Amino acid sequence: MYLRLENISKRFHSFVANDNISFSVETGKIHGILGENGAGKTTLMNIISGLYQPDDGKIYLAGNPVKITSPKVAIKLGIGTIYQHFMLVPQLTVTENIILGTENRWRLNLRRKHQEIAALAQAYGLEINPTDKIENLPVGTQQRVEILKVLYRQAQLFILDEPTAVLTSPEVALLINILRQLAATGKTIIFISHKLKEVINLCDTVTVLRRGKVVATTNTQEATPQQLAELMVGREVNLQVNKSVSVPGEMIVSVQNLQVVDERNIPAIHNVSFQLRAGEILGIAGVDGNGQRELADAFAGLRRPNKGKIEFNKSCTQQKIGYIPEDRQKMGLVLQFSIAQNLILNVFNNLPFCRYFLLQSLAIKHHAQAVMQEFDIRATGEDIKVSQLSGGNQQKVVLARELAGEPNLIIAMQPTRGLDVGATTSVHSQLLAQRDRGAAILYISTELEEVMAMSDRIAVIYKGEFVAILDEQTATIEEIGLLMGGGTPRG
Ligand SMILES: Nc1ncnc2c1ncn2[C@@H]1O[C@H](COP(=O)(O)OP(=O)(O)O)[C@@H](O)[C@H]1O
Ligand SMILES: [Mg+2]
Repeated sequence: MYLRLENISKRFHSFVANDNISFSVETGKIHGILGENGAGKTTLMNIISGLYQPDDGKIYLAGNPVKITSPKVAIKLGIGTIYQHFMLVPQLTVTENIILGTENRWRLNLRRKHQEIAALAQAYGLEINPTDKIENLPVGTQQRVEILKVLYRQAQLFILDEPTAVLTSPEVALLINILRQLAATGKTIIFISHKLKEVINLCDTVTVLRRGKVVATTNTQEATPQQLAELMVGREVNLQVNKSVSVPGEMIVSVQNLQVVDERNIPAIHNVSFQLRAGEILGIAGVDGNGQRELADAFAGLRRPNKGKIEFNKSCTQQKIGYIPEDRQKMGLVLQFSIAQNLILNVFNNLPFCRYFLLQSLAIKHHAQAVMQEFDIRATGEDIKVSQLSGGNQQKVVLARELAGEPNLIIAMQPTRGLDVGATTSVHSQLLAQRDRGAAILYISTELEEVMAMSDRIAVIYKGEFVAILDEQTATIEEIGLLMGGGTPRG
C-alpha cells in the first residue's frame, strides 16, 4: 500500500470541504478521484501536496505516518503535484523551468542539463525539446513539462488535478499513454477528474466524492458510467438528453447576408442567412475558431455587422435577450461581487432592487436566496464572492440571471464547457425547458454530440459561412463531421 488516508477532514469556517475521507492506493496503480464540481477534490489534493493542513486525520506513505507541512516537504517525501493551472515561467526554456530551484547555479552546466532532460523525457516517451521556450509551446506540451518537472524531482506519487480539462482529444490520448507508462514503471498516480469515461478508461480504482464525503471506492472494471454518475450526483441521472419534438412559433430573429469582421478587420462571418423561431433550438456545429465567437458577439450587440442585418421580432428587446457567454469568468460574472450582486447585474436599477436610487439589500438578499434554491447554486450564503464558487456553480449563477426575465431569445455559447455531469444535465434541461416555454435558442458548441442532442436544426459553420442547415431528425454525425472539416458529403 503506497498511500493511505485515514479520516481526513478539512473545514473552511463552518463549511466542511473534506469530511472524514479514507482510502488507500497501491504502488504502481492509477487511482481516480471522481466528483462533481465542489465535491472537495482539489481541497484533498492540496492537503496531500502540503498546501493545506487537514483539521483531522492521518496520512501514511508506504506504511509510515507523515506530516506534510508544506509543498517542500511533500516534494521531499516523493509527492509530485501537477496543478490545474500550470506553474511554469513562460519566458524560460523547458530545461530552465524543470531545474528551477533545484540547482546550485554557480556550477550549472546548461548544456549537460538539456541532455539530461532530453534523456529523461525519452525514457518516459514524452516528446519534448528541452531548449524550447515555454511561451511558444501548446498547452499539452506545457503539461508534459510539468510532468517532467515532477519526474526530475524523483516523485513516486503523482497527483494530477483535472489534467484533461485544458487538452484537445489527441492530447488527452497522449497524456493517458504517458500516465500508463509511469504506472508501469512503478509510480503511483492519483488522477482527479469529473469525467466518467476518462476515469473508467484510465484508472484501476476510483474513489467517488460527493459533498466532501467518500460515497464509494471501487474497481473501475466493475463499474459502469451510469453507476458512477449516480454516485457522483446522488440521484438517478439520465446521460441521454430527453427532448420532445419542437413546436416552432412566430419568427424571433431573421438574419440576412450577415458579415462581421474580426479584430484584424477580416470577415469572420460572411453570407450568413437564417431564421429562428420561438420554441426551437438552432445548433451551430463547427470546429473552434470558425466564426462562432463573432456570430455570438453580433447577436449580443458587442460587434456591429458591416454588411447584412439581424432583424429581431418586436418582442425581442434588449431586456428579452439572454446571453450565456463563452467565458463566464470574464464576461458573464463580476468575480469580486457576491452571488446576490451578480444575480441582479442587469436589473439592479429596477424595482424591487432599487427604490429612490437606493439599492434594497433585503430584496436583493431574498431574491438571491430564492434563486439559489431554484437553481441549486451551492454555496454557504448569497454574500459569498462568485470567485469562490466552482465552475458549475458559477455557470448556474449566469444561467439564473440570464433566464430570470423569461427571455424570448437565448444565445448560449459553450454553456457546458468545463462542467461535470450533474451541472451539464442541469444546463441542458434548463435550456430545453426554456425552449418548451417558447424561447428561441441559438446553441453554439464545439461538442458535436452535444449540438446534435440539443438542437432541432443544425447549422454547420466553416470558415465563417453556414455550409449547411440540417434537420436534426435526419442529419447524421458523419455527415456533419465531414461538413465541419470543409468536406462535402457524398450522395
Ligand atoms: N480556500 C477556501 N475557502 C473557502 N471555501 C473553499 C476554499 N477552497 C475550497 N472551498 C470550498 O470547498 C468546496 C470544495 O472545493 P474544491 O475542493 O475546489 O472542489 P472540487 O475540486 O471538487 O471542484 C467548494 O464549495 C469551495 O467553494
Ligand atoms: Mg477542483
